[in-house]
Amino acid sequence: MKLPGKVKLVDVGPRDGLQNEKDPVPAEVKIGLVHRLQDAGLTEIEVTSFVSPKWVPQMADNMQVMAGIQRKPGVRYSVLTPNMKGFEAAVDSRPDEIVVFGAASEAFSQRNINCSIAESIERFAPVVEAARARGIHVRGAVSCAVGCPYEGEIPPERVEMVARLMKQIGVQHLGVADTIGVGTPVKVQRAMDAALKHYAIDDISGHFHDTYGQALGNTLASLEMGVWQYDTSSAGLGGCPYAKGATGNVATEDVVYMLQGMGIDTGIDLDKLIDAGKYISDFLQRQPNSRAATAILNKRMH
Ligand code: HMG
Ligand code: MG
Repeated sequence: MKLPGKVKLVDVGPRDGLQNEKDPVPAEVKIGLVHRLQDAGLTEIEVTSFVSPKWVPQMADNMQVMAGIQRKPGVRYSVLTPNMKGFEAAVDSRPDEIVVFGAASEAFSQRNINCSIAESIERFAPVVEAARARGIHVRGAVSCAVGCPYEGEIPPERVEMVARLMKQIGVQHLGVADTIGVGTPVKVQRAMDAALKHYAIDDISGHFHDTYGQALGNTLASLEMGVWQYDTSSAGLGGCPYAKGATGNVATEDVVYMLQGMGIDTGIDLDKLIDAGKYISDFLQRQPNSRAATAILNKRMH
């Protein structure tokens, strides 16, 4: 066991979470969520995506949201850019980091970004080059790193292949994503091991959806390997529009509660984080999808 002493969480709720809401969420509410997350101590927030508004209308207000954020020093604001068109649109909004998103599954790549894995790498290459030339950090996401809604189980060799291709085109950081939350600890460790063939431990992260309730276990299994960066979602918001039935990312609140209990520093104020999750949940007229948030909110009432 080589548990890290500190962990960095990237809250992807404003993007991965809110991209999945059926009813529109106004830009002001998204901005309000980002402000609350940064006040709670999050140092990286995945704000929005520059994708086709026909495919994902929920993110069509990307410019407005980016322009409305009062940036806090030391916080990194990231956005998804699947191609040059997305990158060119994003650049004016001054993201600190862009995310190119590929997949370890051919079928998912087709459904999600309308091209094969090989074509996606060709599309990403100029995006990565343009971003790095401007000093913008580049993260790559590998969706379906353990399982795919169309192809079923995905072997670690596929993750290894995509990691190699991402490395070759200059992607600086690799996120290993269990898009549909089917992974279990040993499978996730194998996917991480595959990514580690091409990326250093400091340059990989875990992105676990919690569909089958395995995300905290998968986080712990990755922590035991020394992985210290994770994408999580405030109030457990979200899912993926191209992975039907998949639920949100593991709730940031649950991961922070676990890490605090383990004595691992996140720099996040759990009470303020609960307030951020409550703010967006109140807007969506539902309870936060987080056990820790539910427990703490119940306690506050008594
Ligand atoms: P395409 O149709 O193959 O693109 O879409 P195209 O280049 O052929 O262009 C077709 C039309 O789209 C044109 O418009 C383009 O201008 C426009 P038209 O002439 O017909 O009016 N277009 C764009 N518009 C705005 N922004 C752009 C853009 N690119 C083209 N960037 C594309 C390819 C990738 C754009 C499309 O498939 C798409 O938008 N897909 C949505 C992908 C998405 O957002 N998925 C959800 C996020 S990924 C995720 O959640 C997984 C993750 O969390 C990790 C995990 O959990 O696994 C990251
Ligand atoms: Mg996701």
